Amino acid sequence: MDFTLSEEQQLLQQTAREFARRQVQPRAAEIDEKHQFPADLVKAMAELGLMGVAVPESEGGAGMDVLSYVLAMEEVSAACASTGVIMSVQNSLVCDPIMRFGNAEQKKEFLVPLAQGKKLGCFALSEPDAGSDAAAQKTFAERDGDHYVINGVKNWITNGPEADLCVLLTMTQPQQRHRGITAFILPMDLPGVRRGAKENKLGITGSGTCQIFLENCRVPASLRLGDEGQGFKVAMSTLDGGRIGIAAQALGIARAALEAAITYGKDRKTFGKPVVEHQGIQFMLADMATQLDAARLLTWRAALLKSAGKPYGTASAMAKLMAAEVANHVAKDALQIHGGYGYVKEYPVERHFRDAKITEIYEGTSEIQRLVIARSLIKD
Ligand code: CAA
Repeated sequence: MDFTLSEEQQLLQQTAREFARRQVQPRAAEIDEKHQFPADLVKAMAELGLMGVAVPESEGGAGMDVLSYVLAMEEVSAACASTGVIMSVQNSLVCDPIMRFGNAEQKKEFLVPLAQGKKLGCFALSEPDAGSDAAAQKTFAERDGDHYVINGVKNWITNGPEADLCVLLTMTQPQQRHRGITAFILPMDLPGVRRGAKENKLGITGSGTCQIFLENCRVPASLRLGDEGQGFKVAMSTLDGGRIGIAAQALGIARAALEAAITYGKDRKTFGKPVVEHQGIQFMLADMATQLDAARLLTWRAALLKSAGKPYGTASAMAKLMAAEVANHVAKDALQIHGGYGYVKEYPVERHFRDAKITEIYEGTSEIQRLVIARSLIKD
């Protein structure tokens, strides 16, 4: 497997790094502190082509590959994980399924402005009683002539407070469980769509999360994404790709935490020498860097498989599992290296520690990733 980055990939990585260091990173503490949606940064990402990295240019995107998306996600997330997840949801959970399952009209009307970053999207699968068990949906779409009438509640919707559009999963035939699920593209300004209050979260506080209430919402049948009953496959295959994006977000968080620990540890002296010269700390740093690289290689592999059109579901589950656990481990040790200074907001490491946690939860918990990996090992 060739891990050499092409000139185009290196250029995008460099562009994203410059943007992240100059524009995103100086804002990250304030975004976190004020739970502030970074609308200006989202606009800037759109101008750089980061809201539809792997969408063809003819459909409004940057026309690059999945590894390019991963490279850019790591850079943005290293500066600000909130800004990173806004980008990830847009690319992986909204543009990608419309690109793969949308018809020509849907792509023209929705994918183009999404990939250009003129519209923001969200993805609504989870419900109050259906998280890991995604097939236990209760939201119901009932056919009524050339419309569907949708009722239900969706939970934990990243980008929900700000989104213009939603990729929505609903039941159309509840007795058929996962085979009775159908996907829609839902304009968020349709009558009968209501957003709940913004959740008050532990981390990634700049990205808005809310419930979406659907109350007799009439959605034209032309906005159905794929066939009736195909929704679970739309959702699962979308999440296979989404997990690569979250793995890249976790890489960014881990890298930022490691860099913070090294910077602090070179400056801070204990027992007459910089903290980084103590062997106990050096062993921690060596483990952090090695785990980060291992997670990065798994993430790049999953990205390359997806771009090559090869099966990548297990590889993406492995990448997300590893990267999320590495991010949490690295952030914890980076905070420990800071001692008391790690526990206060004067230093960024406590933000990385809080931001890391969600990567083990959303787009499939670490337990779900293990389940996906284990099933692939034992299937006939
Ligand atoms: N791609 C395509 N099809 C798939 C698939 C995949 N990755 N995984 C399963 N399927 C298909 C199966 O082939 C099967 O199809 P058939 O009926 O035709 O045979 C069908 O789906 C059912 O498969 P399972 O029996 O494996 O389904 P299950 O009910 O046991 O669930 C699961 C499997 C892996 C546990 C799944 O429910 C899952 O991934 N759960 C986690 C959900 C999740 O990640 N939620 C995150 C919410 S989104 C979010 O966090 C967004 C945000 O805002 C950031």
